[in-house]
Amino acid sequence: MECDLLVDGNDYKVIFNNEVLIRPDLVIPRIGSSATAYGTTVLRHFQEMGVPVLNNVNSILNSRDKFRCLQLLAAADIPIPVTYFSNDLHHAEKLVERKLGYPFIIKLLEGTQGEGVHLIKNELEAHEIFNRYGSSKKKILLQKFIAEFSGRDVRAFVVGDKVVAAMMRIAAQGDFRSNIHRGGRGEKIVLSEEEREMAIRAVKTLGLKMAGVDILRSKSGAMIIEVNSSPGLEGIETTTKIKIAEEIIHFIEENFR
Ligand SMILES: Nc1ncnc2c1ncn2[C@@H]1O[C@H](COP(=O)(O)OP(=O)(O)OP(=O)(O)O)[C@@H](O)[C@H]1O
Ligand SMILES: [Mg+2]
Repeated sequence: MECDLLVDGNDYKVIFNNEVLIRPDLVIPRIGSSATAYGTTVLRHFQEMGVPVLNNVNSILNSRDKFRCLQLLAAADIPIPVTYFSNDLHHAEKLVERKLGYPFIIKLLEGTQGEGVHLIKNELEAHEIFNRYGSSKKKILLQKFIAEFSGRDVRAFVVGDKVVAAMMRIAAQGDFRSNIHRGGRGEKIVLSEEEREMAIRAVKTLGLKMAGVDILRSKSGAMIIEVNSSPGLEGIETTTKIKIAEEIIHFIEENFR
């Protein structure tokens, strides 16, 4: 967040603390959802300088917009929940009435840590939420609620073409969202072969090298709800006792020489 950028013809420089930054060997981007625009601008600068990056700008943008992510996954025949996107909240209300029904899930396109993800149970709640997001001009998507797996999700941590760790996240009492940041707890699990293959293929489809893949076990099979390009390490390292940071560094040493 403290870098100034210079472009001058072919000359790209990153200025930090009033000094031109020495060219790094590689960049591991960790970009929070509130800093997507600035973070990817800095990352693009490094890419233009020819610095290798673990996850590139395009792959990060593919995953950051939740609907774009689902479009790309669907195109690769990866199962996802039925999802609508509308630019117009009035249309969205009609979609709920005519197609989706209750309960359904509403998500901000760029939400994170469970914020901006709501379970809507009836017309009254729908009206309230559409009004709220209508005035803030936020982009939203509507999604089928996977009730049979409510309050849980499976997080698969992918590095390169391997799942290096996996856990089940279980929501705090009364919440349907299992994010650790919302009081959810992790439990070590073993993925099915199908889930493992699906997670690896999703990461590859988006062009990422490292990601956290969120999977719901629906009654019609596993489906991916989200791919995270800056996945947290603390929760999953504590739960699985696997040193994921080391796995990432090993992967980089083997693949970016
Ligand atoms: N369609 C769904 N059906 C049932 N539960 C869902 C559904 N979508 C999301 N959830 C629950 O809500 C949680 C948060 O949703 P999601 O992962 O899409 O957004 P997020 O966690 O806010 O984003 P990020 O992972 O980038 O922080 C999920 O982990 C899951 O427990
Ligand atoms: Mg999530």
